[in-house]
Amino acid sequence: TVAAVRRRDLAGRSVVVSAGGTREHLDPVRFLGNASSGRQGVEIARAAALRGARVTLVAAHVEVGLPSGVRLVRAHTTGELADAMTAAAADADVIVMAAAPADFTPAAASDVKIKKSGDNGLDLHLVQTTDILAGLSAHRARAQVVVGFAAETASDRDDLLALGRAKLARKGCDLLVLNNVSGGAVFGQPSNDVVILDADGVVCTVSGEKSVVAHRILDAVAGR
Ligand code: CTP
Ligand code: CA
Repeated sequence: TVAAVRRRDLAGRSVVVSAGGTREHLDPVRFLGNASSGRQGVEIARAAALRGARVTLVAAHVEVGLPSGVRLVRAHTTGELADAMTAAAADADVIVMAAAPADFTPAAASDVKIKKSGDNGLDLHLVQTTDILAGLSAHRARAQVVVGFAAETASDRDDLLALGRAKLARKGCDLLVLNNVSGGAVFGQPSNDVVILDADGVVCTVSGEKSVVAHRILDAVAGR
């Protein structure tokens, strides 16, 4: 890692990283969100910049400090994230989808605050958002490296790897960073415990600070 930073092994490369969770508005004051802190994606952006890359960080809702020396683009919803990533991907050598986009969005958001009606509950009708990673993978230029993430609630390592292999194939990305979120242990934490997969199987297993994991992910990218 120190050697990679010293060598600036990503100099001249353009790296686009998404981070954080998107929010889908139900009305002007309420949204559907998720537990992503954005920390792992932010660490990847920071690490890539340290290694000499030109970095664009497409940040959704991020609960940690943002790195300096990167171009910052903000996105609130999965739709905005899709637009920002598509635009930034055009001249990217590496695309890392570390963000946690909401999978569902209200079929229709209300322009006014939704009021309670008597003692009744509320039924929400949600529709699926677009799969940004699958789209970026399908349309990538030949030499682009596309990295996806998968947070799974798996019962054991075999189960985790099976879910990861299926997701890698479905998304069509080059590398998949897989972690087991059973119990919600990783969200917002400084450490992470991941398996990096490619189409041939396990590339490596890494556990440690998210900054260390970030460099190992970039090592796997640089290896391609
Ligand atoms: N992803 C994306 N666009 C979406 C949803 C997810 O680009 N609308 C990306 C994430 O950023 C991540 C990868 O796809 O890199 C896997 O996300 P994940 O939530 O694990 O996969 P899903 O396809 O949404 O499947 P599910 O949540 O049903 O397991
Ligand atoms: Ca999802």
